[in-house]
Amino acid sequence: MTSTLSETETYSLLSLSLACFGVLFNTFWDGSGEPLIASIAFSSLAFAFCYALIRWLGNAFIRRGFKGKDLCKHKQTEIPETMGAICAMVYLFTLITFIPWPFYKDIVVATSGGGNRDVMKELEEVETGRFLHRFPHNKLASYLSALLSLQTVVLLGIGDDLFDIRWRHKVLIPAFAAIPMLIVYFVDFGVTQMVVPIPLRPYLGELFDLGWLYYVYMAMLSIFSSNSINILAGINGIEVAQSLVIAVLIVINDVLYLSPFTTYPHPATDSHLFSLYLLLPFIGVSLALLKHNWYPAKVFVGDTYCYFAGMVFAVDGILGHFSKTLILLLLPQGFNFVYSAPQLFHIVPCPRHRLPHFNARTGLLECSRVEFKRPLARPIAECLKLLHRLRMLDVETDAKGQVTSSSNLTLINLWLVWFGPMREDRLALGLLAFQTAIGFLGLLVRHRMALLIFTADNW
Ligand code: UD1
Ligand code: MG
Repeated sequence: MTSTLSETETYSLLSLSLACFGVLFNTFWDGSGEPLIASIAFSSLAFAFCYALIRWLGNAFIRRGFKGKDLCKHKQTEIPETMGAICAMVYLFTLITFIPWPFYKDIVVATSGGGNRDVMKELEEVETGRFLHRFPHNKLASYLSALLSLQTVVLLGIGDDLFDIRWRHKVLIPAFAAIPMLIVYFVDFGVTQMVVPIPLRPYLGELFDLGWLYYVYMAMLSIFSSNSINILAGINGIEVAQSLVIAVLIVINDVLYLSPFTTYPHPATDSHLFSLYLLLPFIGVSLALLKHNWYPAKVFVGDTYCYFAGMVFAVDGILGHFSKTLILLLLPQGFNFVYSAPQLFHIVPCPRHRLPHFNARTGLLECSRVEFKRPLARPIAECLKLLHRLRMLDVETDAKGQVTSSSNLTLINLWLVWFGPMREDRLALGLLAFQTAIGFLGLLVRHRMALLIFTADNW
């Protein structure tokens, strides 16, 4: 990869950045501090910075050993890995710099009363604490806890990319990273009840209190969402693009709660604005990464990106109070996780890499296989054969009916079993179309069908 930007790229990024600085300056100048506009400007800036930094730092990463071979190509050259670390850093710095904007109005109120910055004498009253109580410390705490949880998970990701931490060791770490935001959730929101669907109401009542189990559920969601993106991986662009699809779908869902789509002010407006402030910069840095990671990839994203992306969704869903909607958007990842479980838990052998097999003669990807050197236990073999009959797996048997090999248990390989060998980018596009369709269906179910089993849709 060339480590410099072309002339067109330089001028485009430069003019984009200048325009964004102009917009940011303006949000302060007209006294509104309009945070959503500022967030869009910040996200575009994050895109520009991330784009340039990936280009400039790629070779430095290779020199430090962050590199990997693209296994699905004729020429397996080494390209920079762990570029997700750059995304995550730019993202965290963006969120930190953005802090004054969403609190702009509150800061003004707290410092002079009624938004009049020229009334200086009231400053004394601020110092005696009379006006400070107006400042929404709970909102700031939410925001800071999100930052802390994300930072922790990025550390885990970089550690994993450095040392290849064992699966069974790293799987729990996102749960620890989730503690700051769970504490804030407890203090600030604390809702642990679930609305019970109408058919179950005679037994459970209208609301069912999960109590502390709700916190276990949220910690599990953090583990699931970060790990499930990492295992739906292995072909160019798929990690970033699936995250982008999910992020855009959440943004669409958030926008439904803002004017003009809903009567103002909606009680959930604030939490959906919060969600947007976290997601828009994420979309910015991810687009910059996708440009370099799409087929044929010039960089890899590393586990850092997968953990980071998953945690952005978990934090966003939990602190934005729409974790169940989030689960609907993560259904393909959920399927891949359940489908992979036999290999993840070593009921069936699991090779180091399960990405598709590159056929050098045709230039197409085929499903990769796992060979069973020792015969499988009877019940397991029968299960695999059953899956084969259901067209959910490709199994080979010998003359005696013993299972000798099967396709690896991932959604990516299953796609190849269903639709036959194809080029890497077509495979990625197919999977993305699937993710998008399921996501839209999920949102439709969430907002339309919800009325069939619940008495109200909170939109
Ligand atoms: C996870 C998957 C593994 C899959 C790997 C690919 C599980 C349990 N683990 O492991 O099966 O093979 O992701 O990311 O499901 N690579 C490519 N092309 C790509 C992306 C990655 O060839 O488009 C290769 C490169 O050699 C790269 C390596 O995969 O260096 C990165 O693998 P890594 O992310 O470390 O694997 P895991 O996350 O541990
Ligand atoms: Mg990985």
